[in-house]
Amino acid sequence: MSPPALISSANPVPPRHIGIIMDGNGRWAAAKGLPRLEGHRRGAERLIEIIDACIDGGIGTLTVFAFSAENWKRPLEEVSGLFKLGEWILRAHLARLEKRNVRLRVIGDISALPEFVRVPLEDVIKSTQDNTAFTLVVALNYGARQEIVAAAQAIATDVAAGKLAPAAVDWSAVEARLQTAGMPDPDLIIRTSGEFRLSNFLLLQSAYAEIVFASVFWPDFDKAQLQLALAEYAKRERRFGQTREQIQTSDQA
Ligand code: FPP
Repeated sequence: MSPPALISSANPVPPRHIGIIMDGNGRWAAAKGLPRLEGHRRGAERLIEIIDACIDGGIGTLTVFAFSAENWKRPLEEVSGLFKLGEWILRAHLARLEKRNVRLRVIGDISALPEFVRVPLEDVIKSTQDNTAFTLVVALNYGARQEIVAAAQAIATDVAAGKLAPAAVDWSAVEARLQTAGMPDPDLIIRTSGEFRLSNFLLLQSAYAEIVFASVFWPDFDKAQLQLALAEYAKRERRFGQTREQIQTSDQA
């Protein structure tokens, strides 16, 4: 098997799962005297490029933060523009996603989304559910705290119904009730625009993720920027609580 195109030989273990907080569309547009929605449109084009680069690079799963549970507070025009953009991406790129054997998944509460985007989204989730080359996870109306609360409620319900003993509530019981159930944890979280926050994105799943903050706004985050983030990831020693010596010994085994 040839090495993944995006990973330099210095990085023997590419991330299985990358999460991206695509930040800075508005500031990118403002800096150019353009409307905010133009920033989102350019951000959407960049997203398509980065999805292709991740597939070509042998990354198995990409989760992108497209609309947070808090983004409803934005002006109505921007919120509806974002959903129209989402619907357009689905329509314009569905054939390519299917051709590349991509499975689309969503995390977040999409029941609150307008029908014109929710219905095609549900159709694509269903029609791509058996695709295996790559999983694209779109976080839509997503918030990690909301996800954790829902998991806690599901556990409480099962305990109250006698299906689960309180002492049997362990991490795997929690994990199985998160919206990311069945997905690998993100190895790498990238946030663009020079902000240093996780903003309620995959908080539990990122417990051991490496975090890379890129200074460019999302519409400027191209393949070369992704390479830089992967190179930074490649320099990080992932110890998962162990010592360097233990890691080196287990690498040699
Ligand atoms: C953050 O930039 C970006 C978003 C809230 C939306 C991200 C959406 C896309 C890239 C397009 C794809 C859209 C969908 C719905 C699939 P910001 O607006 O917070 O930037 P700012 O902090 O500079 O204002």
